[in-house]
Amino acid sequence: MKLTVNLGADSYPIYIENHILEHALTYISKIFSGKRIMIISDDQVYPRYGSALKANLEAQYECFHLELPHGETTKNFKTLPVLYSAMLDAGISRSDLVIALGGGVIGDLAGFAAASYLRGVKLAQIPTSLLAQVDSSVGGKVAVDLPQGKNLVGAFYQPSLVLIDPSVLDTLDTRFVNDGMGEVIKYGCIKDRELFDLLASYSSFEDLKPRLAEIIGRCVDIKRCVVEKDQFDTGERMLLNFGHTLAHAIEQFHHYERESHGEAVSIGMYQISLLAEQENLTRPGTADQILKVLDIYGLPHSCGIPLTELTEAMTRDKKNLNNKLNLILLNEIGVSRIYPASVDFFHSDRIV
Ligand code: GLY
Repeated sequence: MKLTVNLGADSYPIYIENHILEHALTYISKIFSGKRIMIISDDQVYPRYGSALKANLEAQYECFHLELPHGETTKNFKTLPVLYSAMLDAGISRSDLVIALGGGVIGDLAGFAAASYLRGVKLAQIPTSLLAQVDSSVGGKVAVDLPQGKNLVGAFYQPSLVLIDPSVLDTLDTRFVNDGMGEVIKYGCIKDRELFDLLASYSSFEDLKPRLAEIIGRCVDIKRCVVEKDQFDTGERMLLNFGHTLAHAIEQFHHYERESHGEAVSIGMYQISLLAEQENLTRPGTADQILKVLDIYGLPHSCGIPLTELTEAMTRDKKNLNNKLNLILLNEIGVSRIYPASVDFFHSDRIV
């Protein structure tokens, strides 16, 4: 399956196909005619897929790689000089290519390094987690974390190519698959009732797996449409934040050590829909439909934190400046809207 993100001079193709990684050279050579490639990956992904990718590309290019420790702590501002030094040592010039091979951490970090090194070198995203395949590898958001918070330094920097190989997910730990399923369910909730019903028709992730490539394609296509309409996140793109206001607060509350992002988003989607139903802002029964689908994929819908404690974290979130929140609410499954509100929306004795 091929999709094109249409952004004028910044347009790029996305290919989604099982085992496409084995044919990476065919796709890379369509978009890159330079000499050197730097593959940036982590110590879990590179040993599995990086060496084979490098060998494949070496038929035509001079290839280098950097293997970083896995995990969110690597996505730190202080890691950037390690990337820049590796690129300088390899002689990467403005006409060369950076490949981000890994999950969201590597995609964001290597993406930001590519955006800033020599004022920008070409970037290809090869996402290897479900979350990165359906969300972070597409749309050009790249960033690193500061001690004060996540993604506080970043850029919009579109890749020149995204290669998605769903078969690499076979080797993923179940928790990481479930994590990505939180975002997959989100796409159904905000834009695609048919996708939501399809997800609800299975009994587990194993059951859905034969149609995974098609489902990933559907999610990526939704993201493509949204990004084409609002590349810089000032309107429609905010719909992708459904469940995220509460999710960010939950993640911060436990210092990113308990709920994964997808788990926090799952709780956020259910809880905000429940609150919105109580205010007659969402069709009754919507939260319950979300809950049933979350259950199928082993995702949580509550976390035992009093809502009042989460509002404190919300007021510190960079997206909620001046106590103004752009909440994303569902009219019903498949139809979403931006609802301007304040943190007061969450004032309630409830435990979420
Ligand atoms: N992950 C949300 C966005 O790309 O806008």
